[in-house]
Amino acid sequence: MKALIAAGGHATRLRPITWTTNKHLIPLANKPMLWHVIDKIVAAGIKDIIVNVNPGEVDSMSKAFGDGSNWGDVKISYLEQLGGARGVAHVVANAKEHLEGHRFLFFLGDNIILGSINKFVERFENESLDCMLAFSRVKDPQRFGVPEFNADGSLRRILEKPCDPPSDFAVTGIYLYNEDYFRAFDAIKPSSRGEYEISDINTWYIEQGRKVGYEEITGWWKDTGTPDALIEGNALIMDSLDRDSFKVEGDVEEGAQLHGLVSIGPGTKVSADCLIRGPVTIGANCVLSGAYVGPYTSIGDGVTIRDTEVEHSVIFGGATIDTTERIATSLIGLNATLVDARRTHPKSAHRLIVGDNSFVEL
Ligand code: G1P
Repeated sequence: MKALIAAGGHATRLRPITWTTNKHLIPLANKPMLWHVIDKIVAAGIKDIIVNVNPGEVDSMSKAFGDGSNWGDVKISYLEQLGGARGVAHVVANAKEHLEGHRFLFFLGDNIILGSINKFVERFENESLDCMLAFSRVKDPQRFGVPEFNADGSLRRILEKPCDPPSDFAVTGIYLYNEDYFRAFDAIKPSSRGEYEISDINTWYIEQGRKVGYEEITGWWKDTGTPDALIEGNALIMDSLDRDSFKVEGDVEEGAQLHGLVSIGPGTKVSADCLIRGPVTIGANCVLSGAYVGPYTSIGDGVTIRDTEVEHSVIFGGATIDTTERIATSLIGLNATLVDARRTHPKSAHRLIVGDNSFVEL
């Protein structure tokens, strides 16, 4: 079985972060978002993975994830989305020459599952299903594909972003299909918003009387594309990590206080006057002095934190935070610098060099 991961798109609501970083490379618990997705796919026994990326992004994505050898005998290849963004169902059509004739898993890379997908894949295989969907109960089904059921509980169809949802389930972005996918794709037409909808593919399978299974899953996190949602996703992933993945490899001076689950990467120096309360993940080659790092914070590689309190935040690599303030629920981008206003002139002024679409609360 093969897997196709959708990792394109422009995530405009996450600007300025996504001006320079593909959303799927945003670190959650110190690993790019897509890393967690690949972990799940590999754990389900799939070894041939294709990642669909925006035109021009093959290099940056393959640099981040490699050829699959990070996961053992797994092969990862990268495929550019051609013909523009024409809907989720079209992403699969774009990979036709790789997937035709195969049963495959299709995974939208911004969908994070906290549990395993093994049972889901096993049912598809053991029951020789033609299509398998994962549903999750949500408060706002109108934002998603939504299943409609017949009176006997069987599936009737899937509606894409209905104004008046027929159930309170969302169809999550984790799908399994048999070889008929491309026949379904040839049968559907673009929707009124001009996109080939994955919900129309799913409805085709149901209406053609194919064997369509579904599972209700919990522990699904769908990034809504906002900074707050990412910080929340970071916290959820940190909670779901097993204890063994927290390791202290750096150099922690005697006197520094580490409480709870804390990970400190190689080459990182933590001075005696620091207090770190997990869950916290800190990357490699960071310098922390006079710092308090509170729960649900992930700090990338090469970050400096001096005389600052940080918690419930995601700090990307190369950032410098040297202020006497307390920073919470924040997203700090690559190589960003935050310094103490008292060291600048005139005193007490805030001096800001802030990128387009940034958000600053002073
Ligand atoms: C897409 C699908 C939708 C599905 C959702 C899951 O929507 O079109 O049916 O429920 O993914 O993540 P999008 O997030 O592209 O709006």
